[in-house]
Amino acid sequence: MEMRSLGSTGIQVSPLGLGTVKFGRNEQVKYPTHFDIPDDNSVQNLLSLAREHGINLLDTAPAYGSSQERLGKLLPGHREDWVIVSKVGEFFEQGQSRFDFRYDTTIATVEKTLFTLQTDFLDVVLIHSDGNDLQILEQEGALDALRTLKERGLIRAHGMSSKTVNGGLKVIEQMDMAMVTCNPSYNEELPVLKAAAQENKGILIKKGLQSGHITGKEGVEEAMRFIFSQPGVNGMIVGTINPDHLLNNIAILNRVLNKVQE
Ligand SMILES: NC(=O)c1ccc[n+]([C@@H]2O[C@H](COP(=O)([O-])OP(=O)(O)OC[C@H]3O[C@@H](n4cnc5c(N)ncnc54)[C@H](OP(=O)(O)O)[C@@H]3O)[C@@H](O)[C@H]2O)c1
Repeated sequence: MEMRSLGSTGIQVSPLGLGTVKFGRNEQVKYPTHFDIPDDNSVQNLLSLAREHGINLLDTAPAYGSSQERLGKLLPGHREDWVIVSKVGEFFEQGQSRFDFRYDTTIATVEKTLFTLQTDFLDVVLIHSDGNDLQILEQEGALDALRTLKERGLIRAHGMSSKTVNGGLKVIEQMDMAMVTCNPSYNEELPVLKAAAQENKGILIKKGLQSGHITGKEGVEEAMRFIFSQPGVNGMIVGTINPDHLLNNIAILNRVLNKVQE
């Protein structure tokens, strides 16, 4: 799997990333079927399988239950083998989400994440939007805090996991990258991808398989073809705890990218 530049961050990512919500949380999630959180062996095997097949990109967040703790404990290989994307602003406590985008909270969250992941830097930190993208960017302290953390060398790049077109466009103007929803049934945020392509900012796609509502090899292939034919897309984060799905997704994406290049 050939690496791609994440906008102009200087970070090289595999076009397929592994989403790790299901490593740590199975309450209040929107997946079609209930699942058990995988044991340590399964998580470690999945991570090793991902790395062996060229995936270096991992997506986690404080709001993903024990996802960060498990990555800190179980990540195989060297830290430099991986590009870790984490988030700030959302917390999942006693079965409920809570949002806090203040400056001090943002700094403290990143410091805690560094400790939990047992690392001294994060590759990317995204503001985990609650939907009020513009208000967060214009009235809260999270953006300034991420700039400070970048200056201090604790994070290499920043961005937002955004939910609106206007918010996404502002992110492209002011930050290094955006994580945006895009799949064959949802194309409303394509203007954000176009702006990112023009400005050479990073784009990672979330919910590309509609959070598990797209299934089967043909469905996955159609979704990947749709996503990677858009301008500006550097990579796609797919959440899975099933090694067969992971291998299928890698094989399908390799086929799709070879075709897109032809
Ligand atoms: N920042 C945010 O606000 C935000 C929001 C949502 C998601 N995300 C990130 O983006 C990642 C992806 O989003 P997502 O997990 O909501 O959606 P997704 O990647 O579209 O879908 C994940 C679901 O698809 C299933 N799946 C994966 N490959 C499959 C295959 N080949 N065949 C059949 N089913 C397959 C997985 O089940 P199996 O485990 O059974 O494979 C899982 O339930 C997340 O893990 C997270 O890291 C971020």
